[in-house]
Amino acid sequence: MLPSRVRLVEVGPRDGLQNEPQPVGAAHKVELVQRLQAAGLTEIEVGSFVSPKWVPQMADSAEVMHALARRPGVRLSVLVPNLKGWEAAAATRPDEIVVFAAASEAFSRRNINCSVAESIERFAPVVAAARAAGVKVRGALSCAVGCPYEGEVHPDRVEQVAVRMKAIGVQHLGVADTIGVGTPRRVQAALERALKHYPLAEVSGHFHDTYGQALANIYASLELGVASFDASVAGLGGCPYAKGATGNVATEDVVFMLNGLGIETGVELDALVDAAAFISGVLGRKPVSRVANAVLAKRPEVLA
Ligand code: HMG
Ligand code: MG
Repeated sequence: MLPSRVRLVEVGPRDGLQNEPQPVGAAHKVELVQRLQAAGLTEIEVGSFVSPKWVPQMADSAEVMHALARRPGVRLSVLVPNLKGWEAAAATRPDEIVVFAAASEAFSRRNINCSVAESIERFAPVVAAARAAGVKVRGALSCAVGCPYEGEVHPDRVEQVAVRMKAIGVQHLGVADTIGVGTPRRVQAALERALKHYPLAEVSGHFHDTYGQALANIYASLELGVASFDASVAGLGGCPYAKGATGNVATEDVVFMLNGLGIETGVELDALVDAAAFISGVLGRKPVSRVANAVLAKRPEVLA
């Protein structure tokens, strides 16, 4: 029995656009988020309050958050690496923040310039401050199956960090395959360790599609009852500190598969494809989504 409904967290404006070599202007980011809201996405990761020296693409996250027309029922989230980031984020009234740790030491150093243990210490006051302000805290756990620097990552390490995240009050755990090397059974093994410490409703999958395994990994997650996934419109993205990693699984591809399985998402595929076409036009390329390209190819204006 698969879940009957899936929660999708759209991460394209953050995970996607953080990786674009050409900066995308705030007005285009705002337009993208509006289109995603119009397509029925109710959880959207809008940006990051990280160092602009490290990730200049996200330097305008406050401007984007302030310019958005917020819709009731839509939860907007932003990444926060430390207290400085929390202070800047809090002023933009996010519904949720994301603290991000890694199951691999080498990735932690490259991505946030500290050890895994130090990152947890750094997050603790951020989590406390956010929760005191009524803001939900999600955790992302990078390199849950493989690391670009250390290779294969054992599920024990996922569990060790899950325990630490839980101990500091992180309310949800996103199990992330940062470089898309996971295959179904390995992804299930990582998720099972997270599920020892977090309830089903508070575990999600974040699968980059570098090796084309993301949809299979989502299906394998559904088999465990996991019903929450991050996905990126037009398959945008990657991580600046994971060389060669491509984008998350495209939201359009996930919605198409879930529609076929009779699993509800609340997302309207045609409007989502419009959003994919819009941002791909801004970037000057085709979407990295088989479904978006198939739908676009059948549109009358293209056939004419
Ligand atoms: P650091 O250099 O160790 O920080 O960076 P520091 O505390 O020593 O401060 C150095 C300078 O940065 C200071 O400025 C600080 O004020 C400034 P200076 O005095 O030199 O002018 N600074 C900040 N500025 C703005 N906002 C802040 C902030 N903090 C310090 N929050 C830090 C540590 C974590 C800040 C840095 O390493 C960083 O920003 N890293 C970026 C990490 C990142 O955004 N990675 C991509 C997102 S994670 C991801 O994509 C994975 C995910 O998708 C899941 C998956 O797929 O695995 C979530
Ligand atoms: Mg990611």
